[in-house]
Amino acid sequence: MIQVISVLVLFIYTCSAGIIGGPLHASCKLDWNVGMNCKAAGQTIVDQINKWKGDDCGTGEKCLYSLDSFDGKILKAKHETPKAHYIDDLTMVFNDNGDDCAINANSTSETWYAVLDYGTNYCNLHNLITGSGLDKTARFKEDTSDSVCTQFSSANCEKY
Ligand SMILES: *[C@@H]1O[C@H](CO)[C@@H](O)[C@H](O)[C@H]1NC(C)=O
Repeated sequence: MIQVISVLVLFIYTCSAGIIGGPLHASCKLDWNVGMNCKAAGQTIVDQINKWKGDDCGTGEKCLYSLDSFDGKILKAKHETPKAHYIDDLTMVFNDNGDDCAINANSTSETWYAVLDYGTNYCNLHNLITGSGLDKTARFKEDTSDSVCTQFSSANCEKY
């Protein structure tokens, strides 16, 4: 009986993955290259998180970030969706690459049943970069895809 159920669950998971075409749990992984050393890039993101903490930061959905830790290499933060109050965990890993900084980032919903997120996990990460202006640095690049970032290509980060 247990085996039948597990096969069934696996089947349903596989099917929904096919239909949704992205991670089974709402999440987003991406890579950035910014034209700035990692020390400066990390501080820029920390400053942006602090500017957007609290629920009245003046930018609606972009508020409610909070910094957990940053040791110069790994940054951990949270973002709470203002209306729904879902909490997403953000992790960024910084690696100097010549004059540039390569940042590997991810955002994951704490809510285990969140499958579709309207691009929220992508926007959690992307808004910090555009908000802080790191997307205007030389050689800026963002790499991700729908297969590792829920609803990336349909995300509207101004309104989510
Ligand atoms: C997010 O990145 C961190 C650091 O690379 C890693 O330990 C963690 O497993 C990642 N989380 C997900 C959901 O991929």
